[in-house]
Amino acid sequence: MNLDKNNPIGIFDSGAGGLTVAGAVKNILPQEKIIYFGDTAHLPYGDKSADAIKQYSLKITDFLLEKKCKIILIACNTASAAAYETVKKHVGAKAIVLNVIDPATKFIANNNKYKKIGVIGTKGTISSDLYSTKIKKIDSQKQVISMATPLFVPMIEEGFIYDNISNAIIKNYLSDERLQNIDSLILACTHYPIIKNQIRKFFNFKTNIVDSSQVVARELQRILAEKQLLNTNINPKHEFYVSDYTDFFSTLAEMFFDEEVNLIKADVTN
Ligand code: DGL
Repeated sequence: MNLDKNNPIGIFDSGAGGLTVAGAVKNILPQEKIIYFGDTAHLPYGDKSADAIKQYSLKITDFLLEKKCKIILIACNTASAAAYETVKKHVGAKAIVLNVIDPATKFIANNNKYKKIGVIGTKGTISSDLYSTKIKKIDSQKQVISMATPLFVPMIEEGFIYDNISNAIIKNYLSDERLQNIDSLILACTHYPIIKNQIRKFFNFKTNIVDSSQVVARELQRILAEKQLLNTNINPKHEFYVSDYTDFFSTLAEMFFDEEVNLIKADVTN
């Protein structure tokens, strides 16, 4: 692979959730230019078919390749589960393709602190059973309890985060008895770190909440360093694209990037 270290990192998600990963990447690798794509027109991905998600992912990937991205980071668990292999094959030697599931499962499986692990995500991610399969492949002694929490994404994208509605939905899902004795809970959806504090509070701060955005950003840093692809630019100008405008996206992007965000509509997935 002959990639240019000064080229940007492409990151995509169905909406604003992947900004949790993009924000972590920006903090760890401030010299990297990020091109973010949120497929807000097709959100949520969680209840779409794998075929539909593959199609959207390929179109976004082509858009990011046109922008000369050296990395395509699928910052969406649902798309990582449904489309990672397809995207990787499609991209070939043009860029490095990363997903969010492999770094998180490796991190959990290799950590002895975690024995009884809860996993929450979209219907698509949970029905793929990839978290459980990948964790148990590394450590067959781990107990993994997976549960879909499909209302969280629309709830978050609609801005219900710190209120009675979000608290009621969080309580309703997380009171499920299967989750009661877990020692850790993986937020297997990149939207969920936005409600991490409320989830922590629900478990009385006794359960380890694993937010994989940090783990993914560190893995990205490791790969860039290993392949000598770390950018040396100063003050890169990030770019944000969406397939449909939403106020929530702008607010969140400005919150994570601490700068004014010029949101550009790009109809690439239609
Ligand atoms: N944030 C995404 C994930 O990690 C997608 C959520 C959705 O669009 O349903 O799964």
